[in-house]
Amino acid sequence: MAKTQDFNGKWALVTGASSGIGAALARELATHGAKLILTARRQDRLETLASELTATGAEVRIITADLNDPAAPEQLYHATEGAGLPVDILINNAGLGQYGAFCQSPVEQELSQVRVNCEAMVRLTRLFVPRMIERRCGWVLVLASTASFQPVPYIATYAASKAFDRFFALGLAAEVARFGVKVTALCPGPTKSEFFDVAHASAFKKRGMQPAEDVARLAIAALARGQRTLIPTFSSRFTAFLVRFLPVRLITYYVEKVARPS
Ligand SMILES: NC(=O)c1ccc[n+]([C@@H]2O[C@H](COP(=O)([O-])OP(=O)(O)OC[C@H]3O[C@@H](n4cnc5c(N)ncnc54)[C@H](OP(=O)(O)O)[C@@H]3O)[C@@H](O)[C@H]2O)c1
Repeated sequence: MAKTQDFNGKWALVTGASSGIGAALARELATHGAKLILTARRQDRLETLASELTATGAEVRIITADLNDPAAPEQLYHATEGAGLPVDILINNAGLGQYGAFCQSPVEQELSQVRVNCEAMVRLTRLFVPRMIERRCGWVLVLASTASFQPVPYIATYAASKAFDRFFALGLAAEVARFGVKVTALCPGPTKSEFFDVAHASAFKKRGMQPAEDVARLAIAALARGQRTLIPTFSSRFTAFLVRFLPVRLITYYVEKVARPS
C-alpha cells in the first residue's frame, strides 16, 4: 500500500525543480502535503513555481544553486538542515544529457553530466541521509533512466551516468532500509520536458512521450511504498527486460546505426 500521507508536513528538497520532471515531482509532493525546498539555477522559474504552490497552501522555499559547483551541495545542506529545516525527502532529479559524437562534443559538456548527474547526487545523498538515519525516517528518489539498462552510442556519457545513478540507488537502498530510509531509482523512458532541447536531441522527440505529471504521480507513489525501481511505462519495462537477454554488442551495433548524427 502506498502511504503518501506519510509525506504530509515533511520537508522535501527537489533538485532541478525549475522544469520538467522536477517541477512535476514538486507539484505532486505538494498535493500530499509536503513542504518544499525548490532548487535549480533559474531563479525566475523557481519563483513562478513557488507562487503557484504557495497559492494552493503549500509552504515553499527556493534556493538557487548550480550543481556543477562541487560546493553547492554543502551550501544547500547548510541552508536547509543547518537552518533548522529537516529534509526527510530528497529528490535527486537535476540532470542533463548531451547528444552527439563523443569525440566532437565539448569535454566540459560531457563532464557536466558526470558532475550534475552523479557527483552532486552522491554529495547531496551523503549529506542528507545520515540525518534521515538518525531520525529513522527518510525517502530518497534518484533519477536514473531507461538509458541505464544498456550502453547508448552518441549519448555514451549520459547513459553511463544513469547506470551509475541506478546502481548507486539500488546499493544504497539495501544499506539503509533497516534504518527506515527508503530509496527509489526512477527510470523514465522519453518524457515531455526540456531535456531533449538541452541535450541538442530535438530530432528524437517523439509523439506519445509520457507527460512529466504521469511520471511524477507514479514515482511519488513508488517512493512512498519503498519500491526500489520504477520504470513508469509498460513498453519501457518490456524493453528493459528484453535487453537483459540480448548481447550488448548487438544492441550497440543497432543503436549506433539509428542514432548516428547526420
Ligand atoms: N525527459 C526524459 O525523457 C528523461 C528520461 C529519463 C530520465 N530523465 C531524467 O530526469 C531528470 C529531469 O530531467 P527533465 O526531463 O525534467 O529535463 P529538464 O526539463 O531539462 O530539467 C532538468 C532540470 O535539471 C536542472 N539542472 C540542470 N543542470 C543543472 C545544474 N548545473 N545545476 C542545477 N540544476 C541543474 C535544470 O534547472 P536549471 O536549468 O534551472 O538549472 C532543470 O530544472 C534528469 O535527471 C534526466 O536525466 C529524463
